[in-house]
Amino acid sequence: PIDPEFAQNRDVVDEHEDHDVWGPVEEPETLGIHGTHVAVDFDICLADGACLEDCPVDVFEWVETPGHPESERKADPANETQCIDCMLCVDVCPVDAIDVNPA
Ligand code: SF4
Ligand code: F3S
Ligand code: ZN
Repeated sequence: PIDPEFAQNRDVVDEHEDHDVWGPVEEPETLGIHGTHVAVDFDICLADGACLEDCPVDVFEWVETPGHPESERKADPANETQCIDCMLCVDVCPVDAIDVNPA
């Protein structure tokens, strides 16, 4: 599962679509964690898609990640500022790739 202490244990190494990317990043095999309020561990996400289907405010968008060993697309928290902290995505992800830190 995603490390709930990722903000203490990792450093921001990049930005993507107005959110932070927490390293390490070594493309294409290692992609890090995208987002902070809604954080998705790209190295755990296997593109199940339940988060995209169930989020009531459409926080997630697919991004293509060719060459990643788990899956070749990831649920990117592109609209994390819209999050209403319902925690549905955290509950439905089969591999616990998502951490939401309520405001
Ligand atoms: Fe969407 Fe709810 Fe997850 Fe926030 S906690 S990203 S509103 S499903
Ligand atoms: Fe990925 Fe989990 Fe969503 S596997 S696509 S973060 S439900
Ligand atoms: Zn991203």
